Amino acid sequence: MEEIKNEILYDIENVQTLTDLNNLKVKYLGKKGIIITLQAGIKDAENKKEYGMQINDLKNYFQTLFDSKQEEINTLILNEKLEREAIDISLPATSVFMGAPNILEKTSEIIENIFISLGFDVMDGPEIEEDKYNFELLNIPKGHPARDAQDTFYIKDEDILLRSQTSPMQARVMLEGKGEKPIRMICPGKTYRRDDDDATHSHQFMQIEGLVVDKEISLSDLKGVFDILAKELFGSDCNVRFRPSYYQFTEPSVEADISCFVCHGSGCSLCKNTGWITVAGAGIVHPNVLKNCGYDPNKWTGFAFGFGAERLAMLKYNINDIRTFYINDLRETTIFDRKEND
Ligand code: DAH
Repeated sequence: MEEIKNEILYDIENVQTLTDLNNLKVKYLGKKGIIITLQAGIKDAENKKEYGMQINDLKNYFQTLFDSKQEEINTLILNEKLEREAIDISLPATSVFMGAPNILEKTSEIIENIFISLGFDVMDGPEIEEDKYNFELLNIPKGHPARDAQDTFYIKDEDILLRSQTSPMQARVMLEGKGEKPIRMICPGKTYRRDDDDATHSHQFMQIEGLVVDKEISLSDLKGVFDILAKELFGSDCNVRFRPSYYQFTEPSVEADISCFVCHGSGCSLCKNTGWITVAGAGIVHPNVLKNCGYDPNKWTGFAFGFGAERLAMLKYNINDIRTFYINDLRETTIFDRKEND
């Protein structure tokens, strides 16, 4: 027994790998292993009990050495692996390119959120539009000179066009309301006109249309809404004024100005020394438009408005060329986003 123990000790101490260690298990405890063979001899032993205990002792001896050697090798493997895969946290990191939201989308989202807080729905409409919605239902019949102000892209024939304004959504939403439902919606979206692109014109631009139809709606409701929007966008001392204007689909019609947030009225280049900046066209929905779209003008009144989204973004972020939004230069939007977060 002592000899075998010495052999076990010698074998296990000289083992280097897990495979060799497992081979030792076969050598001692396998079917034909040394210990198992001895165990088989128990039936011939004189003192079976004593013999049995010795075999058990031998087995335990082997197992204990085996376990501690196994642990030793595993620790060694783990340490080697840790060393190999060590991370040098003092190395400089690879820089990650941080994206930023498109500044026009971002402005539009800020405006949407202000209107949502006032209970408006945000709606989407088709960019390829029918003449009926873009003009006729809005009180601009075929051949009317008011069409000339909007140099329109026609597709295929005179009835299908790229919408030249987001106002057709007024007609669509009213027709859906079937003359019964009050309406409070805005529709931000792309619009198209045959303009030559320059610093203030783009053949594709974004408008934010608004429409409220309900009982006893007046211009003062419109003014209240604009006042909230101006203060949220440009600061609590920003005021709103209306000037008389003309649109086919509103009567009376107004241009909405905000007080200049740069000079606060004393005069600067942004407001061209007037103290005011024009930001929207608006008015009380024309009775003909209500009628055309299924609302009884004797029962219902409403206001409508249209903002140029780029113009608001240009004012808010001090951008002086509308093409900035469309040149796909990621540096531009990132710069404005940084300014915002500073
Ligand atoms: N659609 C007009 C334009 O493109 C803007 C506008 C003016 C929209 C008055 C309105 C409105 O809804 O009431 O010039």
